[in-house]
Amino acid sequence: MTRILVVCLGNICRSPLAHGILESKLPSNHFYVDSAGTASYHSGNQPDSRSIAVAKKYGLDISHQSARQFTTMDFDLFDYIYTMDQSNYNNIISLAKSSYHIDKVKLFLEENDTVTNKNVPDPYYGGPDGFERVYKLIEETSTILSEKLMRKHL
Ligand code: 4NP
Repeated sequence: MTRILVVCLGNICRSPLAHGILESKLPSNHFYVDSAGTASYHSGNQPDSRSIAVAKKYGLDISHQSARQFTTMDFDLFDYIYTMDQSNYNNIISLAKSSYHIDKVKLFLEENDTVTNKNVPDPYYGGPDGFERVYKLIEETSTILSEKLMRKHL
């Protein structure tokens, strides 16, 4: 089983989308996908209603997900840790205790050569347009990443 964790700040907007989309593209008998936030503000909450809505629009149900905070145990539990932006990356790296842990952490958009800005914008304070843009970006990148992971691990 290959384990992938996607991380953002609150674990209610961006990483729940990446969690649901990646999970839909990878065979569940070989890949386990989860998400977490660097902050605990929303622990136990459902994804933001705007993330649930945009996912539903594209045929994906993420409403069962529940937010949790990243913990240092995740460095051992997961093979790949993908952060949505540089700030999340810096926060996670600051918790790492070895180069083995650090090497597991990467910006999610580093997997997508077609984009130059490697940060998935935080849509929390904007309108539905932001969620639509974020969905497309995460969907495109998840296609690239899932194909790469399947080539490597299946
Ligand atoms: P996320 O978005 O990191 O994509 O889940 C945010 C959610 C909540 C907050 C900030 C960003 N907040 O400040 O509560």
